[in-house]
Amino acid sequence: MAALPSNAQVAVIGAGAMGAGIAQVAAQAGHPVMLYDNRPGAASQAVQGIDRQLGRLVEKDRLDASAREAITARLQPVETLDALGEAHLVIEAIVENLQVKQDLLRQLEALCTVDCILASNTSSLSITSLAAGLCRPQRVIGMHFFNPAPLMALVEIVSGLATDPALAATLYDTAKAWGKQPVHTRSTPGFIVNRVARPFYAESLRLLQEGAADCASLDALLREAGGFRMGAFELTDLIGHDVNYAVTCSVFDAFHGDFRFQPSLVQKELVDAGRLGRKSGQGFYDYAAGAERPQAAELHSQARVERCVVEGQPGPLHALLPRLRASGIGVTERAGSGLLRVGDATLALSDGRLASQRAQEDGLRNLVLLDLALDYASASRIAISWSADTTAQARDQAVALLRQAGLQVTAVADLPGLVVLRTVACLANEAADAMLQGVGTPGDIDLAMCAGVNYPQGPLAWAEQLGVGYTLKVLEHLQHSYGETRYRPSLLLRRIHAEGGRLHG
Ligand code: NAI
Repeated sequence: MAALPSNAQVAVIGAGAMGAGIAQVAAQAGHPVMLYDNRPGAASQAVQGIDRQLGRLVEKDRLDASAREAITARLQPVETLDALGEAHLVIEAIVENLQVKQDLLRQLEALCTVDCILASNTSSLSITSLAAGLCRPQRVIGMHFFNPAPLMALVEIVSGLATDPALAATLYDTAKAWGKQPVHTRSTPGFIVNRVARPFYAESLRLLQEGAADCASLDALLREAGGFRMGAFELTDLIGHDVNYAVTCSVFDAFHGDFRFQPSLVQKELVDAGRLGRKSGQGFYDYAAGAERPQAAELHSQARVERCVVEGQPGPLHALLPRLRASGIGVTERAGSGLLRVGDATLALSDGRLASQRAQEDGLRNLVLLDLALDYASASRIAISWSADTTAQARDQAVALLRQAGLQVTAVADLPGLVVLRTVACLANEAADAMLQGVGTPGDIDLAMCAGVNYPQGPLAWAEQLGVGYTLKVLEHLQHSYGETRYRPSLLLRRIHAEGGRLHG
């Protein structure tokens, strides 16, 4: 299936942040683009704004002046909807309201040719519902760009129940021709990204609510151990809590109140208080001029460690061993069950149980649990928690070991799965459920999370790297600890584990 030819007329409706960005992308790809907004003058203003953006690219030598002129010349602001009758592809990016969008689509259907593609940039409405009641629902499709559209690579191509598969193929190829990274998905709540990403916010919010650590520490752990571009609190402050909370509520409602998507009371309170994040001057952090940014908490140690013992295969922690050796610590390896011993302390990668519970069940004294890191060889910070009977001296030795290897150490309360591990396990669980339900292929799901929200690695590939069995065990322990369906493992993880198969084919 071929992309739309670059001379095909594109129309964009809604000249706000998204519509202007999409119009720019299409014009940069060579299309003549009409831009319409029902607010008089808004489309012309948006074209002027796009021209200024292009001017900045020219100043930075990323675009030449003649290309800027040609792109701007391809953008035609129009003041009536009737002007769009000849468009081959219409992309609407108007207000996020089902009724208003349906009315617009009905008008477009009456106005445009029978083979015109009617695409919606909606981020939360059902494409199936948008198309319902139209004469040609097979011509309606989602083309979900991310903000800012000229910069973000991902485009979700969303098929509703009636969407013609050939249309999805055409738009996929068209998005590719526009320099984007498209993925196919079905019209289900949140599509891929806004569904699979929910636990990223939810787990941090829950950890905060349960007193695991402060915002700055939890954010630093997701960044410096997890490899995420931003922590959940700084990211939701940037997105705006009203927007982020509304997306969570909409996904939660659309799944008929499935507890996996339950909105956070902590975030609701911020919204109620008008602390919407950067845009209101305060969210989890204070953005007032001169306000001090809190630092992540850090443990120090007076102890000095000369050697440690590794018993058996420590799993992902294995990548820490060269780092320990390089820092001059003698590492002895012997048979055992994947533990690290230093002085009086026993260190282990969390398996989703509480430290105190695991110490008791496995008969381990002075247990210190380590959180997951994306890459133990290069992480700069790690979270630890410990069981109630761990002595201060043992803890001190564990901290010394990690600090000597160049890691900053942040303590979190004894909660199941610490910070990065439980976040990654829950992301992988949601991704697996989306895969099970045919929302996307494993490749598209992982790609969407990397290209749409900059995850350091796709959740499915991450689970595979950790081991599907281990990811499953972490989730089972979380579910057992909390007794909530929120952490129920996806059937797909169970099946793949039982079959000894792979998530990525
Ligand atoms: P916006 O509020 O910046 O722009 C919406 C524009 O549509 C306004 O200029 C408004 O005058 C115009 N408009 C409203 N009703 C109209 C109508 N009936 N006919 C013509 N024009 C009309 O909104 P934004 O952020 O650009 O969002 C637009 C759409 O894109 C929404 O569906 C939103 O869910 C979706 N979206 C937004 C993202 C974001 O980060 N802002 C990301 C991805 C999708």
